[in-house]
Amino acid sequence: MTSKNYIKMIVYFNDKYIPHDEVKISPFDRAFLFSDGVYEALRTYNGKLFRLDDHLERLKYSLQQLEIPFHDFHQIEDISKTLADINKIKTDYSVYLQISRGVSFPRTHNYESNLTPNVFAFVKPIKDNSKEIKAGVKIILEKDLRWLRCDIKSTSLLPSIMANQNAIRNNAYEAILFRDDFFTEGSHTSFFAIKDNKIFTAPLSNYILNGITRKVVIELCKENKIDICEEYIYVNELKSFVEFFITGTTTEVTPVIQIDDWIVDDGKPGKITRKIQQLFFNAVKQV
Ligand code: PDD
Repeated sequence: MTSKNYIKMIVYFNDKYIPHDEVKISPFDRAFLFSDGVYEALRTYNGKLFRLDDHLERLKYSLQQLEIPFHDFHQIEDISKTLADINKIKTDYSVYLQISRGVSFPRTHNYESNLTPNVFAFVKPIKDNSKEIKAGVKIILEKDLRWLRCDIKSTSLLPSIMANQNAIRNNAYEAILFRDDFFTEGSHTSFFAIKDNKIFTAPLSNYILNGITRKVVIELCKENKIDICEEYIYVNELKSFVEFFITGTTTEVTPVIQIDDWIVDDGKPGKITRKIQQLFFNAVKQV
């Protein structure tokens, strides 16, 4: 296993806190065989999990859609805090939580309703993204090859991984995906575009994840009387927009300054994007 920054990390696995390299899991776990599992990615601000209730609601939704019987939502805050304490993390941190359907043997596509989910979590200090937040990033455009239930936060992520790998290969931060003639979202972010002082982002549907940062941005726009439209951004209209940004739990509100070879406007983050960033960072400071 590669671990550039960690010699050892204590992780959570089924009620135990153990070194990351001591976790043992059966290859018959259905997440290993079928990607039959869901996950959440959260973070803290000032040591407190940001929008925990929204993340739990989304997790509950994903689990219900897949009929995975996990109900111990109340433990998640405690697990995160304990992991941060044991790992002596003094800064804000991100939390990865994964729940697989569990082990079934022998391998069959269908599942029994009585399997025991495997629950895995780890935390790590938030990576410094101040450079991207300040200067903005390049994105590339990729065909959306994902399935038709992107509203479920499933661990089945290969099309997203391929798209993001292609972005990194092209010195970009993220790949924004299009389905037919409209943009859906990024490989791991939500996508926003601005024209005529109006912000556009794809409407909630089975084509996108219900991003929590997206939700926060929409709320902030409404509170501050900034026009926000949950409407598709069409591929053939891309160049009529003057500003773009992407959002996500760790990406926060990151300006987009280049799309493929197109330098947007003057290659600097736009004014409205700056305003949204300011509103967002004020809001998270107050939690
Ligand atoms: N990704 N869209 C997709 C496809 C995502 O995977 C994510 C999050 C988002 C942004 O959602 P939120 O604002 O709730 O983080 C949008 C997480 C961070 C991940 O895959 O690790």
